[in-house]
Amino acid sequence: MSPFPHSQALFEVAQTVIPGGVTSSIRAGARPHPLYFERGEGPYLWDVDGNRFVDYALGYGPLILGHAPAVVRDAVSAQLERDLTYGSQHRLEPELAGLLVEIVPGAEQAIFATTGSEAVAAALRVARAVTGHDLVIKFEGHYHGWLDGVFASTGFDPQRSGPVDRPIAVPATIGMPESSLADVAVAQWNDLGSVEAILAAHASGVAAILCEPVAVNGGVIAPVPGFLEALRRVANERGAMLIFDEVITGFRLALGGAQERLGVTADLAIFAKAIAGGIALSAVTGSRGVMAPIADGRLVHNGTFNGNPIAMASGVASLRHLIDGRDRIYPELDRLGARLAAALTAASPRLTVRQVGPIVHTAVDEPDDVRTIRDRVGDPDAHARFIEALLGRGIHATPRGLWYLSTAHRDEDIDTTAAAAAEAARETLG
Ligand SMILES: Cc1ncc(COP(=O)(O)O)c(C=O)c1O
Repeated sequence: MSPFPHSQALFEVAQTVIPGGVTSSIRAGARPHPLYFERGEGPYLWDVDGNRFVDYALGYGPLILGHAPAVVRDAVSAQLERDLTYGSQHRLEPELAGLLVEIVPGAEQAIFATTGSEAVAAALRVARAVTGHDLVIKFEGHYHGWLDGVFASTGFDPQRSGPVDRPIAVPATIGMPESSLADVAVAQWNDLGSVEAILAAHASGVAAILCEPVAVNGGVIAPVPGFLEALRRVANERGAMLIFDEVITGFRLALGGAQERLGVTADLAIFAKAIAGGIALSAVTGSRGVMAPIADGRLVHNGTFNGNPIAMASGVASLRHLIDGRDRIYPELDRLGARLAAALTAASPRLTVRQVGPIVHTAVDEPDDVRTIRDRVGDPDAHARFIEALLGRGIHATPRGLWYLSTAHRDEDIDTTAAAAAEAARETLG
């Protein structure tokens, strides 16, 4: 019998009418089974069994202001009174684009879509249009959404992934046409030689070098000093676009994202998740020159819900809140991230904790110096048991060990988490 009986019952019903019972495959990994939630407020989530959790999953990233933030709710409510969608232009579009231009390094213009996956597709289309080349270099362990063409080598498979310095593009799902990976080459994160080898093998040209500027999905693996600068340099030398997928890092590592925090400016930057505090919205920013094919109508970027007023209202409200509070908010998010990382590190010598600002990652028995996803040799089963034991103690983190802090988390939440983590580690890690 599950300790979450109402969730379990709902999950059983769901599996009869939804394949696998969940609406995003990654959620199926939750143990003992996916939970059903009813309400959220600030750093807390309540499930259908009446349990309260300190939440570090934050909707997989959007909820940088915590659950149900008043600023976003008020802005959305005000827009709901006016209309749900226009399918046409409205004042909030240039307002939000203007805010992005103000805060995102290298942004002179922005386009909008609904999900991160779509924004990645749009950015790649722009890069291919501008350069006239097709090949995109991505990195092993980096995730750029689920669409054909980039959904490859998001993990490491010893049977199929190839040698460390020459990784092979491995489809991350069945059902993608083999041809969809014809224009993708996979490089090794933190290994410039692997990028240079691909560039040398494609002398005619490359459209883009695409990366998460911190490899968050691969386990929060930071770029080694100088690596992003080197990518910038080789992209310039070879006329390729450098694209930062800031879907997670945007508005989180700094107001201007990883570009601001790490001091390297890409040609195109992709945003989603935290851009709108909990409503689906994504964007791509770049210079006027890079965006010119859209402006002159040769490059088509469509979308029924692009720029829809509910999403734009939430985006404007959320970003204005972050802009107004930037001097207070970002140091505080960093401080809380460091406190959480310290608490988790203290919970067990077996826990491997990596942290960049308000993004924390836990694993079990991994080496201290992880530079690529292949270095992550540890004990994922033990980690899954640890996360499950935390759930039973009112702490909700993602099954794969990603923890996010929001502006709603307080020191007392970290203290509660520290005590629960120590207990859960004693129970599951010895
Ligand atoms: C770095 C990164 N890029 C793209 C995506 C895809 O975004 P979405 O799930 O909104 O399609 C994600 C989602 O987790 C992501 O983490």
